[in-house]
Amino acid sequence: MSTERLRTASGMRPTGPLHLGHYFGVLKNWVQLQHERESFFFVADWHALTSDFANTSQLRQNSLEMVKDWLSVGLDPEQCTIFEQSAVKEHAELSLLLSMITPVSWLERNPTYKEQQQQISDKDLSNTGFLCYPVLMAADILMYKPQGVPVGQDQLPHMELTREIARRFNSFYGEGTFPEPEALLTPAAKCPGLDGRKMSKSYNNGIFLRDAMDDVAQKVRGMFTDPARLRKSDPGNPDVCNLFPYHVLLSSDEERREICEGCRGATLGCVDCKKIFLKNLGAFLNPLQERRAHLDQHPELVMDVLASGCARARVRAAQTMEEVREKVGLLRIAGL
Ligand code: TRP
Repeated sequence: MSTERLRTASGMRPTGPLHLGHYFGVLKNWVQLQHERESFFFVADWHALTSDFANTSQLRQNSLEMVKDWLSVGLDPEQCTIFEQSAVKEHAELSLLLSMITPVSWLERNPTYKEQQQQISDKDLSNTGFLCYPVLMAADILMYKPQGVPVGQDQLPHMELTREIARRFNSFYGEGTFPEPEALLTPAAKCPGLDGRKMSKSYNNGIFLRDAMDDVAQKVRGMFTDPARLRKSDPGNPDVCNLFPYHVLLSSDEERREICEGCRGATLGCVDCKKIFLKNLGAFLNPLQERRAHLDQHPELVMDVLASGCARARVRAAQTMEEVREKVGLLRIAGL
């Protein structure tokens, strides 16, 4: 058996500030994985461009802010490699080579592609970059030959395509070149938005990691609870309440038991239940926001993290590409 550590790689598009859904859905998993596997986490800025090419005014800022969010939740640049996709050009080269072996029909029938083309009407998604999104993603992943990739549920079709592309590459150019990576899903974290729909920037229903506590308090006050419970004297049902999943994530077992009993027994009102949530959310967000304030004061720290992370990622990427160019049969010129 090999003694090499297991590897993992994952990315996020820099589309805006991260919220609790990002944290409990994916980031928490990243933070844990960094201690267990050799980990590569990157800002997928080229992927952001596939759909947001028409207005890039926020892109640079979003990339930096996202890395600050990562560091504030506990990604540790000593434990994992944090980098920017566009700074490691090998991703583009591998994506190009993978595009040679990827049938257009695989991309056109990708459910995410079809869905987004239909649902997103305020952007023009007829560009080739958007169609080829999964090819670039496959390149991002396969570059580091990870056994597992921590992603949200919504990325499963892309993971399937990555495996298909790996298989096809291997069959043309050498079995075993790219291991087929598994999706590593976070065990079902439910994170409803303020209005009960999935927490999402586009629904404007999120609690963001960097929200000031006053804003958080106001958002929590407006959160929907059990719609059938109008007064404290009405018994409530935690199973249909939007707040309760957060007690599962943030409250102690004992608090959770008391909340359940008090809600069903009509002795604990939604206002008090929200107070407990707010206390626990504050305890979670405070240390995170302290770290963030430090990074806001020292933006050079973020640049240092990216600089050393990109250098490390490049070493790995260069190794993979040496092998890939050789296997694909490209002419190798000595000394270049
Ligand atoms: N598609 C991912 C998302 O929207 C971002 C991403 C790009 C990614 N490349 C990746 C995720 C590689 C995992 C691995 O969240």
